[in-house]
Amino acid sequence: MKPPAELIEKLRAAKRVAVLTGAGVSAESGVPTFRDAQTGLWAQYSPEDLATPRAFLRNPKLVWEWYAWRRELVAGAKPNPAHLALVELAGRFPEFQLITQNVDGLHQQAGSRNVIELHGNITRTKCFDERTIVTEWAETGDIPPKCPRCGGLLRPDVVWFEETLSATDLNTAMRASASSDVFLSIGTSGLVYPAAGLPIAALGHGATVVEINPQPTPFTAKVHFALAGAAGIVLPELVTSLRE
Ligand code: OAD
Repeated sequence: MKPPAELIEKLRAAKRVAVLTGAGVSAESGVPTFRDAQTGLWAQYSPEDLATPRAFLRNPKLVWEWYAWRRELVAGAKPNPAHLALVELAGRFPEFQLITQNVDGLHQQAGSRNVIELHGNITRTKCFDERTIVTEWAETGDIPPKCPRCGGLLRPDVVWFEETLSATDLNTAMRASASSDVFLSIGTSGLVYPAAGLPIAALGHGATVVEINPQPTPFTAKVHFALAGAAGIVLPELVTSLRE
């Protein structure tokens, strides 16, 4: 399905483009999304049981092992055509900001630069108490392992519910969204704030807003272009049309 000619014209005229991606961009790499019923990561658990500081303190072993399982999933995943198309897209505009909610690092693996990881990165580990990154620790068999500096519990360097995002990252993401000529919201259910506020800021500042998602979301009715399809199909088509 060719993208609408009007959208290609808007992209050709754009100087500043911002992109927000969600788990749907990594679905075609085999990484489960959060809320897709058949594969959802949450299907077997409720978020409150796993992705909150209280859940971690209540059962650090369960939370650490759930993230270890997700790290395994991600370790075997490769960037898909959606990630690669975004790398090519970035080179077409004077200003391009990629903002992701994903913690799998696949954008960087594909070659994207200067990616804002609003929800952290599952391949990084930090000390729960010191909140600083830890790159190596003694394998004593403790689950979770202990911080080599303070003995505190180690945890994945991802944002949990009830935790705040990096103010710097959020400000940079909000500024890029609010000043964009075209904003692309790709593979996200648009349910989790403050990330879900970025396309709304773009819309409020007059950007042309595009959604790429095989399913409708609460935002679909508000966007200028709703491309109903898989990111791994739609994004390469967008890039091909821009080359013509
Ligand atoms: P969700 O699982 O909530 O939504 C994934 C979206 O991707 C859905 O709207 C799907 O329809 C869509 N989708 C599925 N396959 C797709 C494909 N091939 N191409 C394009 N879209 C596709 O995941 P997120 O919106 O990323 O937060 O979830 C946002 C946040 O909620 C996550 O970052 C995580 C979770 O709680 C934290 O962990 C803090």
